[in-house]
Amino acid sequence: MPKQLEDKVAIVTGASRGIGAEIARLFAREGASVIVAARTMEEGQHFLPGTLKATVKEITAAGGNAIAVQMDLANEADCKRLVEEAHKNFGSVDVLVNNAAVNWYIPIKDFKVSHWRAMLAVDLTAPFLLAQFVIPEMIERKRGAIINISSGASRGPGAGPDYKTKPRGGTVYGTVKAGIERFTQGLAHELFEYNIAVNSLAPNKVVPTPGTLHHKLVDSMDDPRGEPPELMARAALLLATADPKKLTGRIAYSQDLLKEFGML
Ligand SMILES: NC(=O)c1ccc[n+]([C@@H]2O[C@H](COP(=O)([O-])OP(=O)(O)OC[C@H]3O[C@@H](n4cnc5c(N)ncnc54)[C@H](OP(=O)(O)O)[C@@H]3O)[C@@H](O)[C@H]2O)c1
Repeated sequence: MPKQLEDKVAIVTGASRGIGAEIARLFAREGASVIVAARTMEEGQHFLPGTLKATVKEITAAGGNAIAVQMDLANEADCKRLVEEAHKNFGSVDVLVNNAAVNWYIPIKDFKVSHWRAMLAVDLTAPFLLAQFVIPEMIERKRGAIINISSGASRGPGAGPDYKTKPRGGTVYGTVKAGIERFTQGLAHELFEYNIAVNSLAPNKVVPTPGTLHHKLVDSMDDPRGEPPELMARAALLLATADPKKLTGRIAYSQDLLKEFGML
């Protein structure tokens, strides 16, 4: 069976661990050359497990093609360098997955403006910058896919009795995720005529990752209340390969999307 991303080049941010690493591994298995980006290159550089080196090692051990770019998404020059590295090593970018995000569960009364700026920089400004850096070549080729990883937090915490059991303090996180969804829809509208698909993707349930484990959103990496990360990866693959004329501007949820296309 032909691989779905043969000869394609994909950037995946936040691929040192969690959902990003899972997406990078699946894209590479499907033939893409993958540029994995994050801050953690080596063990010991971050308190959470997972490194870019390990993701690249797993991909190449399985016969795939990947390079690591150590960078900080909060830094505009680093965002530019990431796309330049993709061009230098592989010549183009066909798929951009804006997956990385930070999330601090801090109530607004204690949320420093430095936290606000840092969260906006990584979760919203970086996806905007990276999109801006890859769009010109996509427009020229009239082909491309941009996937912005979002969250059900964009819909708000809701009201009612469960406010006592849900983790509080995710207000800014929900705000930036609402922002990335609006950005997705606007960009999809702008790029429709160029055959470029722009979609957002969120999991239907909490995905056990080093991040969600740290925030105690799940009890373990195999917490049965969670959604396996493969579903996000498979849904991202679907969005990376779908016809942009038929599937763009969607605020998609992993399991709903896979069901819609008969894949779950
Ligand atoms: N897991 C879930 O249940 C869930 C639910 C809804 C939405 N999401 C979304 O899914 C995405 C991935 O979540 P996850 O649970 O896999 O997260 P995670 O385990 O916390 O991993 C986050 C990734 O982002 C990278 N990152 C963070 N700050 C960065 C920076 N300044 N520069 C470069 N890279 C940075 C981290 O790498 P370094 O630390 O090495 O830089 C890491 O690879 C996020 O957008 C999240 O909002 C997840």
